[in-house]
Amino acid sequence: MRIIVVDNYEEMSKRAALMVASQVTLKPDSVLGLATGDTPSGMYKELIKLYNKKEVDFKEVRTFNLDEYYGLNPENSQSYYKYMMNNLFNSINISTKNINMPDGMAKDVDDFCSLYEKKIKTLGGIDMQVLGIGGNGHIGFNEPNINFEAQTHLVNLDEQTIEANSRFFKSIEYVPVKAISMGIKTIMNSKKIILLANGLNKAEAIEKAVKGKINPSIPASILQLHNDVTIIIDKEAASLL
Ligand code: GLP
Repeated sequence: MRIIVVDNYEEMSKRAALMVASQVTLKPDSVLGLATGDTPSGMYKELIKLYNKKEVDFKEVRTFNLDEYYGLNPENSQSYYKYMMNNLFNSINISTKNINMPDGMAKDVDDFCSLYEKKIKTLGGIDMQVLGIGGNGHIGFNEPNINFEAQTHLVNLDEQTIEANSRFFKSIEYVPVKAISMGIKTIMNSKKIILLANGLNKAEAIEKAVKGKINPSIPASILQLHNDVTIIIDKEAASLL
């Protein structure tokens, strides 16, 4: 694990955007794994700036998102589909046909999940996966005590996650209780991984993920076994290391 501690959120976002942009420059048809949440939104803003300065071109890039709430229509303002369109895709030259997101309205979820996995494999696997981390150590929506062998699947959200994410919804009752998420195995099969975290509320999860035992109770701890992980965190998130 390579750990880069930066001063603040802005620095974290810039460093991460440069890593993604370098990946795309070296391999224009890169397959990117993308995350949602507050953490990566600054990185997406920086990527849009680089795109506007013509320093990166997304014409051939293919993307797979980590997760999506189950039961939310893509047009719902809180869907991760909307997040990605608003935070990145609408502002760059990615081709719609190259965007892949878990379908929160899938009727046959198992079928959808196995097709998602197949598509990732057919395109040669994920070159670079961007991750945030939940306060409980989750990555994607792989909640504590997840099976490390799982691939894309339907998950039940943890109470802590439902509460944390209720800040985006009218009230907690509106937060979906299930989601479709890439599994730990899907994430671990990525060639490179960047994990971002900022703020004191992520310090404990980062400490356990980086220094703790590899244990399904902290899903992100599995990343210790990956051979190309870069963790970019601000001072606050790094405060317990
Ligand atoms: C969410 C997402 C994760 C994200 C994490 C942290 O529930 N499913 O992919 O990394 O929780 O979110 P935030 O960046 O808003 O703190």
